[in-house]
Amino acid sequence: APAGLADRYGRRATDMRLSLTDKCNLRCTYCMPAEGLEWLSKQAVMTAEEIVRIVGIGVGQLGVRELRLTGGEPLVRHDLVDIISALRRNHPDLPISMTTNGVGLAKKAAALKAAGLTRINVSLDSLHEETFTQLTRRPFLDQVLAGVDAAWAAGLGPVKLNAVLMRGINDAEAPSLLDWALGRGYELRFIEQMPLDADHGWTRRNMITAAEIRRLLSEDFVLSADPRARDGAPAERFEVRRRTAGSDAGSGPVLGTVGIIASVTEPFCSDCRRTRITAEGKIMSCLFSREEFDLLGLLRSGAGDAALAQRWQDAMWLKPKAHGMDHVGLDAPDFVQPDRSMSAIGG
Ligand code: GTP
Ligand code: 5AD
Ligand code: SF4
Repeated sequence: APAGLADRYGRRATDMRLSLTDKCNLRCTYCMPAEGLEWLSKQAVMTAEEIVRIVGIGVGQLGVRELRLTGGEPLVRHDLVDIISALRRNHPDLPISMTTNGVGLAKKAAALKAAGLTRINVSLDSLHEETFTQLTRRPFLDQVLAGVDAAWAAGLGPVKLNAVLMRGINDAEAPSLLDWALGRGYELRFIEQMPLDADHGWTRRNMITAAEIRRLLSEDFVLSADPRARDGAPAERFEVRRRTAGSDAGSGPVLGTVGIIASVTEPFCSDCRRTRITAEGKIMSCLFSREEFDLLGLLRSGAGDAALAQRWQDAMWLKPKAHGMDHVGLDAPDFVQPDRSMSAIGG
């Protein structure tokens, strides 16, 4: 399949995001309901061998150049280290990254690095015990902080941190979160909340927009465009300097980088390079695609690599042009909130 994972709008997916499980040990309010979700049966989830086969087709035949492991929470998979080792054996040069909530990461960071993981992104919405627990509904802040430091120490850097800002909960903490990340050399990214919560509690009015994020940060910092190419990344990056009293132009050295992921108000769909495989082996051409294509079912029915590659290409060809969230309201005719939450699709 020489054409790779092309779509009708001239985009080509080279960046594969694969969900290892729908399970999670946190209950972030913007993602999961307090009681959790009904987990997939073990039988429904891809096995390590199936994952290795699917990644092999993506990389070997369809032009995938980067792999990111997601969840739910990827660390809850007991065979995570084995999966990474197997992928690394087959693909010595493939960048393999992982997005995790950091719970239990401290214990596993060194093993993940040894298995061949390239780098790691960790969700961190607050540095205050109470706020963290309110947002994630679990009291694991210390574990997450230990996990972030352990990942860095294990050589899994550059470590990126993801913070979803929620009005009245952690928005006021934005500058101090950035200060903390800069001091440690981590790249913090602020994320606009997307309507992907299982409770369907998202409202446009409550969402902290990218413009607000820049305003919140501008009291303490001066941001200037990062000269590095964006390359289809969700995050727009800025160089950060400290604002000195009475000055507009940040004087002094660049302290580091901050990212803003403005999925809703400044969408980046037109340059999207992502293809997703859910934990149950369904192809999703977009976080917001309405249709899922069953790759795992086809694989389990005995299909060969060519048929699997063809289905993947067919699914990606239908990738929607854009998610439609950037309109006046969610009543826009081309936007429908997906039935599944972020954790079930795969971050
Ligand atoms: P890096 O290569 O480290 O920059 O990874 P990343 O930023 O692509 O990955 P990560 O898993 O850390 O995702 C960060 C955030 O990007 C997620 O929380 C989402 O908010 C957003 N994001 C990731 N993929 C998509 C996507 O396909 N569409 C949209 N709209 N947002 C996405
Ligand atoms: N909107 C934006 N980002 C979200 N995440 C989870 N749910 C949402 C949402 N509704 C983020 C988490 C994690 C990443 C995988 O997705 O913060 O860092
Ligand atoms: Fe778990 Fe990530 Fe969802 Fe939080 S955002 S509940 S850590 S899957």
